[in-house]
Amino acid sequence: ARTLTFLGIESSCDDTAAAIVRQSGTGTNETRTEILASVVSGQTDLHAAFGGVVPEIAARAHAEKLDFCVEQALELSGVDLGDLDGIAVTAGPGLIGGVMSGVMCAKGIAAGTGLPLVGVNHLAGHALTPRLTDDMAYPYLMLLVSGGHCQFLIAHGPEEFTRLGGTIDDAPGEAFDKTAKLLALPQPGGPNVEAEAEGGDSKAFAFPRPLLDRPNCDMSFSGLKTALLRTRDEVVARHGGLPRAIRRDICASFQAAVTDVLVKKSRRALAEYMALAPETPGFAVAGGVAANRAIRAGLESVAAESGARFVAPPLRLCTDNAAMIAWAGIERFRLGHTDQMDLVARPRWPL
Ligand code: KG4
Ligand code: ZN
Repeated sequence: ARTLTFLGIESSCDDTAAAIVRQSGTGTNETRTEILASVVSGQTDLHAAFGGVVPEIAARAHAEKLDFCVEQALELSGVDLGDLDGIAVTAGPGLIGGVMSGVMCAKGIAAGTGLPLVGVNHLAGHALTPRLTDDMAYPYLMLLVSGGHCQFLIAHGPEEFTRLGGTIDDAPGEAFDKTAKLLALPQPGGPNVEAEAEGGDSKAFAFPRPLLDRPNCDMSFSGLKTALLRTRDEVVARHGGLPRAIRRDICASFQAAVTDVLVKKSRRALAEYMALAPETPGFAVAGGVAANRAIRAGLESVAAESGARFVAPPLRLCTDNAAMIAWAGIERFRLGHTDQMDLVARPRWPL
């Protein structure tokens, strides 16, 4: 296969990112993929005071930081614009202002260099990451689980995904973040709730595990925050505050409920996937929540039950980054798919 070097650009939420990825042919059909640089510039500080991402602030920050991130990625990788084979950019879904900033930046570089432009679906970027990191073979089962997403997909090819089900309301990361807020733990909630859960009793509180009886892969996490709020208020009323030990128990019980739902629905999704009789079965997870050790361990054991290979990419590639976008761009480009200057930024774009 011909060696391809791509610049990737990502700006669909609150991280501005640029990366250089190279896939080289090594003679036979073997290829080697390298992330030559991956720059991620977060905006957490900018949004901290508002308790969430503010779209206008995000868009302005992306516009200000994109050029710098691209320059830095080029410099760190030692790659010149002239060495590139294409530019991949997240064209959605996401906060429209940010996506537009990225698309404009990519178009500018494409216009200036004459390089091919490849628009990438952000979710496809996440979903294709196990191929970037672990050479995962199609078709594989994917659980995308982050602050904004929670769905099972079967990846058949770079542009071909079947959705098996997902959350019908909140995403688990959102539930972790809201839990942290309710319990006066710092944001982002995930890692802080996980740390607090350590040493807590996961059976202390029975939090809801909705939809487990449904014969599909749908999940629901919005009921958790209501249950949590009620539990917190009861504890505060009884103890005149939230004792640390009880807070630990609440976090552990909350995490157990989320894990339980994800594990049981993964088992169902895996059964549906295995019915396709894949030659080398694989189950991969991506998204920020994949950082959670309890959840990761639960999913890994589900994969083991079916004899499927389990892949959880390193955290920096599970959360938003541009290496996954560059990689998805390479995969689309190998199919002969590129975009023109009329590429549009899309706020919604289901896979
Ligand atoms: O993929 P990501 O960086 O951004 C999107 O949401 O697209 O995921 C961020 C989410 C946040 O909600 C964060 O609380 C959650 O992932 N998260 C975790 C952990 N680390 C991050 N959730 C549970 N346990 C963790 N260790
Ligand atoms: Zn994402």
